[in-house]
Amino acid sequence: MANKKFELIDAASGKKSDLPVRSGTIGPDVVDIGALNKDHGVFTFDPGFMATASTESKITYIDGDAGVLLYRGYPIDQLAAKSSFLEVSYLLLNGDLPDAKQLAEFQHNIQRHTMINESLLRMFNGFRYDAHPMAMVSGIVASMSAFYHDSMDIYNPRHREIFAHRIIAKIPTIAAAAYKNALGQPFIYPRNDLGYCANLLHMFYAVPCEPYHVDPLAAEALDLLLILHADHEQNASTSTVRLAGSTGANPYAAISSGVAALWGPAHGGANEAVLDMLEEIGTVDNIPKFIAQVKDKTSNVRLMGFGHRVYKNFDPRAKIIRDMCHKVLARMGRADNPLLELAQRLEEIALSDDYFISRKLYPNVDFYSGIIYSALGIPRSMFTVMFAIARTAGWVSHWQEMISDPHMKIGRPRQLYTGPVKRDYVEIGKR
Ligand code: CMC
Repeated sequence: MANKKFELIDAASGKKSDLPVRSGTIGPDVVDIGALNKDHGVFTFDPGFMATASTESKITYIDGDAGVLLYRGYPIDQLAAKSSFLEVSYLLLNGDLPDAKQLAEFQHNIQRHTMINESLLRMFNGFRYDAHPMAMVSGIVASMSAFYHDSMDIYNPRHREIFAHRIIAKIPTIAAAAYKNALGQPFIYPRNDLGYCANLLHMFYAVPCEPYHVDPLAAEALDLLLILHADHEQNASTSTVRLAGSTGANPYAAISSGVAALWGPAHGGANEAVLDMLEEIGTVDNIPKFIAQVKDKTSNVRLMGFGHRVYKNFDPRAKIIRDMCHKVLARMGRADNPLLELAQRLEEIALSDDYFISRKLYPNVDFYSGIIYSALGIPRSMFTVMFAIARTAGWVSHWQEMISDPHMKIGRPRQLYTGPVKRDYVEIGKR
């Protein structure tokens, strides 16, 4: 492709420069502004990264206007229909779908790493009985760096691989321990003869005093949710993992910072907030009053599970989740679930309202996911933890991609300073 340039003219000085334009395989071009400060003495200003590509990546592509999501080139609907979470994790990490031998090996590696050190397990006792599981998960993940000194050289590819397997394998165990801790029930050890999601359900719901049988539909629904949440290019938590990791911090610290960023209601915390919202609305009759509140900018009320920074069309994940939602509820004999009915009516009303139409606000991945989690018996406070389990695959893949790049730089944005200019210190008695 011809070398594209972006001509920039400083109106004050008349100084011109040709900024290089880089093209990806698909998606908009980016203007490389690296030389802007050197040539013109200015920075760009883009709070919230509204128009900034923070990095180059080969992992995930989103076309927000068309509602397209590709993992390593594969459409999300094909992966949702045909793949499994572990296969998707392999794909995200390694770039291509595994063959049968590679997949079996990967599954074996994950299954062999499911247990966590007993000292880590005892740390859960240090949390207050009502600690939010996300607080426990981020704390325990950060603490893992104190346990795995054998594989912490981030510049050693084999160490990075062991780390990737460990964290993907252990994050369900950590999540289950947080859940059991909150319930006051004994921790249930992982079963390596079960699949990833069946084992997760087993660790959540089994108790030592009676046998537990995993419902295959519950495992299937969970696997689908994990596939859909596994990666989403440079979202807030992934960017946080990259930024923390760019300092050379150990990978457990980087992933823990991602867990913390995910917790917010504008990001992964939205699935919990959607159910709070639906319960608060209560009945279909109250929807108009609630929508009026959402439209009133002074209320600070948002329609949770709606809107997305990148999607200005249906979030492709939301459609897949809505179908699964019906399947799960029908199978569980709860097809007439009042929350689902309320959510559907709310969606219909919002999608025909000019406020949402004009702002291109559509249901996102989290509008329906909480309803499925509830149907599977997962408590609300665990919803964002479920998201974290899935997104761990994406976080690790992005961290790997960044660390293995020989041109990696520490992430260090600049600012527009609007504080006081230089002034002299005034003695306390003279202020
Ligand atoms: N309800 C009501 N108004 C909204 C909503 C919403 N959910 N989302 C955006 N808007 C309005 C917003 O008030 C603004 O209006 P105006 O132009 O009049 O000021 C306009 O739409 C643009 O919103 P924005 O806040 O500038 O958009 P953003 O790209 O910064 O925010 C978002 C994206 C996801 C944070 C936002 O849509 C939101 O808060 N949604 C609700 C929370 C949610 O569901 N989050 C999960 C996102 S998907 C999963 C994930 O990525 O973790």
